[in-house]
Amino acid sequence: MPGLAIVGAQWGDEGKGKITDLMAEQAGVVVRFQGGNNAGHTIVRGDEVYKFHLIPSGILYPGKLCLIGNGVVLDPKVLADEIEGLKRRDVDTSGLRVSANAHLIMPYHMLLDQAGEARLGDLRIGTTKRGIGPCYADKAARLGIRVQDLLDEKILKQKIYAAMEPKRLMLRPFEKEPELDLHAMTEDYRTFGHRLEPYITDTSRLVWDALDDDRLVIFEGAQGTLLDIDNGTYPFVTSSNPVAGAACVGAGVGPRDINDVWGVTKAYVTRVGAGPLPTELDDEIGAHLGRVGGEVGTTTGRPRRCGWLDLVALRYAARINSLNGLAVTKLDVLTGIDPLRVAVRYSGPEGATFDSFPYHQSIMHKARGEYVELPGWHEDISGVRRVADLPQNARAYLEYISEFVGVPIVLVGVGPGRDQVIWSESTRPLQAVA
Ligand code: IMP
Repeated sequence: MPGLAIVGAQWGDEGKGKITDLMAEQAGVVVRFQGGNNAGHTIVRGDEVYKFHLIPSGILYPGKLCLIGNGVVLDPKVLADEIEGLKRRDVDTSGLRVSANAHLIMPYHMLLDQAGEARLGDLRIGTTKRGIGPCYADKAARLGIRVQDLLDEKILKQKIYAAMEPKRLMLRPFEKEPELDLHAMTEDYRTFGHRLEPYITDTSRLVWDALDDDRLVIFEGAQGTLLDIDNGTYPFVTSSNPVAGAACVGAGVGPRDINDVWGVTKAYVTRVGAGPLPTELDDEIGAHLGRVGGEVGTTTGRPRRCGWLDLVALRYAARINSLNGLAVTKLDVLTGIDPLRVAVRYSGPEGATFDSFPYHQSIMHKARGEYVELPGWHEDISGVRRVADLPQNARAYLEYISEFVGVPIVLVGVGPGRDQVIWSESTRPLQAVA
């Protein structure tokens, strides 16, 4: 602290939103640094359930500075709707700020995402079809439209024209779509610009100010390490870098501004979309995890693929992100499964085994987990609040993970509620400060 990055250590959906939300109570600033509304997180407050796709966790604390950093790709309609939704429920959004340098998802990005997936057929990635990939592609091609462009009609129109021109051929099947009309699009985006204007600013400066004042800044990751475009299971990845290193680029700070990095992992694994998942369970236990864990995507409603905890991938995530804390979520979902299994190496093609995460796509596609069996537990743990009160076998499961990965566990989730968390002794004092 004061710079804490909270990142996904698996394939996304690890429960980062809940952990970030818990830590946000004592933070000065929460900043999202990559991804867009392909992400989704659910926060439960008493009887109220909130679902966010773009707005950082932490917004439920009145006036808390919640920033959408420059590394995010932003659909202005989704953001405007989320703000409206919160206002309708009397949630104070005055702490929300949006980087003027964040890139905008345009209607043609969404159409190109859908068309790209349709073209790939069986080889499709299984994207969320929110236009994420095409938007990041335009950013890299220097054809992106940024939030600041919303505030100048002439520039906005010029840039939309310049961005659409080279896509003319690809967009031909959609030429009758009214939303692709240059004038109408400029108008629509100008309207979003008016609605978002009070929130648009230089978000990096707000992060620097907080860091200089020794206030806690949380860098909130979206998706997960194995979906990272450089370090994940390419091409079955998202188009940004969900790893901790990207927090610097996507929030506008340097590496020394991040003091702690927590990786969030479920007590088992899930994945949405296509791509390798070496510990996938295509059986009754997999179905049980999906059912008990409520494993349905927040953004697309797709069922998630489920499997045993993959410690090979988790150790890789620990290394890539320099994790110094592990947050293990959904431990309660494993209750009643006995024995449990965790993958400690992979078997690959031609009898090869892999103790560490293989870099080669062909190997990854054929990799299957090799397991160690650990005894399960049957007691209801959803009311447990201290490590010492967990059943012996649940403690042993956590200890095995922590030892294998070489990272201490900072907290454990035992249910969806805000209070259903076991803090480790090292993090408990932080709670007391709140
Ligand atoms: P895209 O990010 O929409 O381009 O999708 C690329 C891949 O990342 C697909 O497999 C998606 O299912 C996956 N993905 C994107 N965002 C999330 C997320 O928030 N959680 C889990 N998977 C995600």
